[in-house]
Amino acid sequence: MSCTIIVGGFFGDEGKGKIVAHIAHQDHPTLISRGGVGPNAGHTVLVGDKEYGVRMIPSGFVYPRAKLMIGTGVLVDPVVFFRELEMLNAKGRVFIDRRCGIIDPIHIERDKGSDHLAKTIGSTGSGCGPANSDRVMRIGRLAQNVPELAEYLCDVPMELNNALDRGETVLLEGTQGFGISLYYGTYPFVTSKDTSASQIAADNGVGPTRIDDVIVVFKAYPTRVGEGPFSTEMSRQASDALGIQEFGTVTHRQRRIGTWDGNLARYSAMINGCTQAAITGIDRVDHDCYGITEYSKLTPKAKEFLAQVEEDTGCPVTLISTGPDISQIIDLRDE
Ligand code: IMP
Ligand code: MG
Repeated sequence: MSCTIIVGGFFGDEGKGKIVAHIAHQDHPTLISRGGVGPNAGHTVLVGDKEYGVRMIPSGFVYPRAKLMIGTGVLVDPVVFFRELEMLNAKGRVFIDRRCGIIDPIHIERDKGSDHLAKTIGSTGSGCGPANSDRVMRIGRLAQNVPELAEYLCDVPMELNNALDRGETVLLEGTQGFGISLYYGTYPFVTSKDTSASQIAADNGVGPTRIDDVIVVFKAYPTRVGEGPFSTEMSRQASDALGIQEFGTVTHRQRRIGTWDGNLARYSAMINGCTQAAITGIDRVDHDCYGITEYSKLTPKAKEFLAQVEEDTGCPVTLISTGPDISQIIDLRDE
C-alpha cells in the first residue's frame, strides 16, 4: 500500500503526465485522483502514436485499470469534462467529488474580459480565477447542483481513504507548478490557488500523515507560460539555438524557456516536502541521452547535471525521462 503525490517543481508543464503514466504502469494503483486548480491545466500524453491533450480528466487515464477521480478542491467545467469523457471513452471510470466548484460560462467571460487577468497576469482564460473567487465569496455552484453530473458524483476523500485502508496503491496528481502557487509563487503572476503537495493532499481530502512519498517533477530546462518573473529565462535566440520550442496545451502560446534554477528547485523541494525528484528532458542536456533506459548508459554530462539536481534539491533523483514516449525513462526507485 502506498500513497504518492506527484507535483510540478517549477512553473508547470514539467511533464508530470508522463511521470504519472509511468508510475501507474509500474505500481498498479487502483485509484488515480487529481488535485490542482481546474481546466487551466493541460496535460499532453502520448499513447502509442496518438497524442491526447486533457484538462479535466487525470493524466493517469492512460493506465486503463485505475479508476480516475477529480478531487474536491478542483474546479470542474462541465463542457470540458464531457468533451474529454467522450474523446477518451472514459465513461464509467471517472468520478467527481460532489463538492467540486463549477466553472460556468460567465466565469470564462470574466476571465477573458478582464484586462488584469487576461493581459497583466496572462491567465489561460479558462474561468478558473473568477470561479475560485466566487467560491471564496460563497456564491459559486457546486458539482452537486448540476443535474447532468449526477451519475459521476462521489465522495472522493472517502473513496481514497477507504482504498488506503484496504492496502491499495493510490496516486494523487498535482497540476500547475510550484512557481505559480498563489502563496509561494511570483505573486501576483500566479494561478488562483496554492499548487504545492500539501494543497494536492487537501484537494483530495487525504491527510498529510497518509502520504508516503512526494515526487517533485523538475524540467531540465524550465518553462513558463504567461507573464511574470523568470530569473533564468533565456532569449528566444538562445532557446532556438538549443532546438527547444514549446507551445501551451490549453492556450497554444509559446512557452518561455530558461536554464536550470537551483535556487527555485531548492525552495520548491523544501515546501513540497520532496522525497524523490523526477527529471524530464535530460535529452536536452545531452542529446546522446535520448531514449536511454539505463542509468549506466547516461553520458558524463547528464550524470553531472543529475548530481547538481540532487545537491540543489537535497533529494535523490529516482526518475529520469529521456524522451516523450512512456517507455523512455530510467526508474531508480528501487535502487
Ligand atoms: P490562470 O490559472 O488561468 O488564472 O492563469 C494564471 C497564470 O498561471 C498564467 O500565467 C497561466 O499561464 C499560468 N498557468 C495556469 N495553469 C497552468 C498550467 O497548468 N501550466 C502552466 N501555466 C499555467
Ligand atoms: Mg501543462
